[in-house]
Amino acid sequence: MGKRGFSLILALGLVTLSTSSEKKCILSGVWQNDLGSNMTISAVNEAGQFSGLYLTAVSGAEKPILVSPINGSQHIDSLEQPTFGFTVQWTFSDSTTVFVGQCFVDKHGKETLQTMWLLRVKARSAENNWNATMVGTNIFTRIKGQNLSESMRSDL
Ligand code: BTN
Repeated sequence: MGKRGFSLILALGLVTLSTSSEKKCILSGVWQNDLGSNMTISAVNEAGQFSGLYLTAVSGAEKPILVSPINGSQHIDSLEQPTFGFTVQWTFSDSTTVFVGQCFVDKHGKETLQTMWLLRVKARSAENNWNATMVGTNIFTRIKGQNLSESMRSDL
């Protein structure tokens, strides 16, 4: 193969590498959803597990809203647009919410977390179980000012 052919293959390889590394997304950072709720996700470990804090903008509980802990995990075998799940154990109510979702990165590098959630409120008795679970969707975007390089990993 000539020098030029080799250079072309090398260039194509580099373009491919940079494109795939740009798409990788992990969840660490500060996010806000369409309701105005904020969540901060700390570092994701090598097993894909993470913890963090959630401050909901809305609540059905008749108590002052407090920051609540989250625990979850993401797939790490496919870092491009991974699926994930996490639980919020509300500190100011008897309820629990689980979120499942996927991190999408568009062609401009903008990340969104598209999620669905189940919110379980505490029923007084088994007879009241039937209406104790709500379902909904939330879309999270990364709050501006975050260091993108912290959340976009190209080393994995
Ligand atoms: C409660 O009302 O008992 C706890 C707060 C629940 C807030 C819900 S969880 C799903 C939805 N998404 C949010 O960001 N907040 C609400």
